[in-house]
Amino acid sequence: MMRWEDPSADFALVLHPVDAKRDVARKYPRLARILPGAVIELLTRFWPPVVLSRVNGIHSEATGSSIDGWLLACPLTNRQMAELPPLAVYDRIVRAGRLGQTRGARILGLGGMGGILADRGVTVAQRLNMPVTNGDSLTVAAAIAVLKGAAEDRGLSLKDATAAVVGASGGIGLACAEVLAPQVAQLIVVGRREIRVSQARAEAEAAGGSRVRMSTEMDAVLKADIIVAAASGPRPLLKSHHLKPGAIVCDVARPPNVSSEVEREREDVMLLGGGMLHVPGHADFGIDLGLPAGLAYACMVEVMVLALEGRYESYSLGRRIQRDKVGEIGELARKHGFRVSPRVSRRIG
Ligand SMILES: NC(=O)c1ccc[n+]([C@@H]2O[C@H](COP(=O)([O-])OP(=O)(O)OC[C@H]3O[C@@H](n4cnc5c(N)ncnc54)[C@H](OP(=O)(O)O)[C@@H]3O)[C@@H](O)[C@H]2O)c1
Repeated sequence: MMRWEDPSADFALVLHPVDAKRDVARKYPRLARILPGAVIELLTRFWPPVVLSRVNGIHSEATGSSIDGWLLACPLTNRQMAELPPLAVYDRIVRAGRLGQTRGARILGLGGMGGILADRGVTVAQRLNMPVTNGDSLTVAAAIAVLKGAAEDRGLSLKDATAAVVGASGGIGLACAEVLAPQVAQLIVVGRREIRVSQARAEAEAAGGSRVRMSTEMDAVLKADIIVAAASGPRPLLKSHHLKPGAIVCDVARPPNVSSEVEREREDVMLLGGGMLHVPGHADFGIDLGLPAGLAYACMVEVMVLALEGRYESYSLGRRIQRDKVGEIGELARKHGFRVSPRVSRRIG
């Protein structure tokens, strides 16, 4: 049922605060000025989901069609999402999703929640009875595109390169390993638990990797020319001494896997953020998201690509990311005019 005062929409996208004070200030600047961060974070725990803004001006280069959407906020920080029982978190996201549903959205994106939602959107989709996509397929496609672009700039041919994936047993890491495995000379899958890393190696081999090595030691990364960093965990894992001279690193993880010392100490290392894309048209997100104008994270963009394509379906759902979908969503994004922004530092990327 649509609210009479709201224009209809093609999609809705649920976001959540990373830093409570900073991000709440985007919607409620006066409140954020008055209250200390700790109080705001306490309030967000009980704050109901809200509509952040209306999104206009996303325009497909391929079809000439435009889409509109809603940005919604599920006001729980990463820490709160990790601490609360999963069902309580799903409940808040479902309530946020209903705000989009009642405003006519035909598909819901879960932006920026990768690695946080235990079942990556399955329960939310079931409870809302609407198509939901978690953005993971395009996150992987964009990370690989960023790495390939950087390798090309450096004159490095992937078929001669050694690649490493840190966090290769995770959803994003495994999908990156599977996509890279058949394209590089050697792949090193790195993780913390031997059994899980060994499964990741088997999957990468099944995906066509002829030389796949595994390690539970971060030192194994030292052999790699290109690296995807995709381990979740509170502390950085990759330090200067883990990286070969001239290494290209795409750090997809939030918080980042690459230590800040690398930026200070290693000018030779090309350090890239994972998956920011230029949005085609004159996209107006209706609120300052702290991103450079016209750019959005791949995990936010996936739902926009699907809406432009008229694919109102649950596309990326669950922990296992499908390789064919990574390829397909990357192609669809290119077709509609989304372009990866390759030289963005991990501080904003
Ligand atoms: N940039 C984006 O748009 C975007 C989108 C989605 C996800 N992400 C980020 O990408 C990262 C991975 O997400 P995911 O969905 O793939 O998560 P996931 O499926 O939970 O996988 C996490 C991976 O990290 C490893 N890990 C967990 N805790 C660790 C620790 N303390 N030390 C070392 N390794 C650890 C896990 O190893 P085990 O297998 O042994 O548990 C697993 O390999 C997260 O940081 C997430 O925030 C970013």
